[in-house]
Amino acid sequence: MGKEISLHNQTFSLYLDEQKIRERIIELARNINEDYQGKSPIILCILNGSFIFTADLVRHLDFPLTIEFVRYSSYEGTSTTGRITKIMGLKSDIEGKDVLIVEDIIDTGLTLSNAIKDLLKSNPASLKVASLLLKPSALIHDIHCNYIGFRIPDKFVIGYGLDYDELGRDLPEIYQLKDQA
Ligand code: XMP
Ligand code: MG
Repeated sequence: MGKEISLHNQTFSLYLDEQKIRERIIELARNINEDYQGKSPIILCILNGSFIFTADLVRHLDFPLTIEFVRYSSYEGTSTTGRITKIMGLKSDIEGKDVLIVEDIIDTGLTLSNAIKDLLKSNPASLKVASLLLKPSALIHDIHCNYIGFRIPDKFVIGYGLDYDELGRDLPEIYQLKDQA
């Protein structure tokens, strides 16, 4: 039996170990480095879930960059509420700047499609998206993700920044909810 962990009375099993995550991030960074040579983009970390992915990714990027943090909220427990609210906005003006959104996971795409709509109002020079995880079968909003770490089944995952009611963000690996229908 693989490694398991229990949080709030739910059991999760190991899905992506540290090495797999690390290797994939290096590959993503290689692609991002090619595309942003000669540029100096704003890396936009979508809090809270993306803080670890952003921290690991930016250390493999080789162009000058700045980092900003924004925060939206849509999730309660293990399913989306269908509504999102902006809790914390941008500090600097992104007009005319290249912006790379860094997201932990794209589920229905609601959070990201709203974030993109919001950011496009400020006329960035370019707007791209890097997401560590994508659940293709859950996606209902039409969004384009430029850099995808892993395409995963539509099961709830935790760890590496992702939480189950705020627990589990600190886990170095990614775990999947066990026995989810
Ligand atoms: P939407 O549906 O807006 O969801 O694309 C994206 C946001 O919801 C959170 N999310 C998850 N969090 N395990 C988590 O811990 C998951 O499996 C999961 N799926 C979605 C996440 O915060 C993301 O930004
Ligand atoms: Mg998130």
